[in-house]
Amino acid sequence: MVKFLFILLSLTIFSITSSNAAIYKGQRIFIKKCLHCHKDGQNFVSEYKMSHWKKLMKKKGAPLAELHLKNKKAKKSWKYFESRKYARKSKHLKQFLMEYAKDSGNVPACN
Ligand code: HEC
Repeated sequence: MVKFLFILLSLTIFSITSSNAAIYKGQRIFIKKCLHCHKDGQNFVSEYKMSHWKKLMKKKGAPLAELHLKNKKAKKSWKYFESRKYARKSKHLKQFLMEYAKDSGNVPACN
């Protein structure tokens, strides 16, 4: 029994840290790739609901990429949105965006 609890505990800790790692990675992507146009940062992220982010980030973020590729004002982001790196890392970005969406219940830390 004790052994079982121990395994359960370590599994829980493992899954918490790995999802935090994805959110952290997503945040780094956001800061590096999105922030210079969307200067409002986390406020910008929390303007949208989870369902909205989910829709934009489906199929490895294709709808979000398309929206920017169609908009001339976002020209500087085209190279990134067309890159394979964007698609490959889109799930981290998605985690981060969902975590701080309007209705996620999470308030960004004030730092
Ligand atoms: C080169 C500038 C630029 C970069 C980089 C950029 N965006 Fe945008 N983004 C725009 C512009 C321009 C629009 C259109 C806004 C408008 O027309 O008012 C937009 C619109 C959006 C919207 C609104 C979509 C909607 O449904 O209304 C979202 C969400 C968004 N961007 C997220 C992101 C994310 C996430 C990233 C980083 C992966 C990113 N953007 C990177 C320029 C940029």
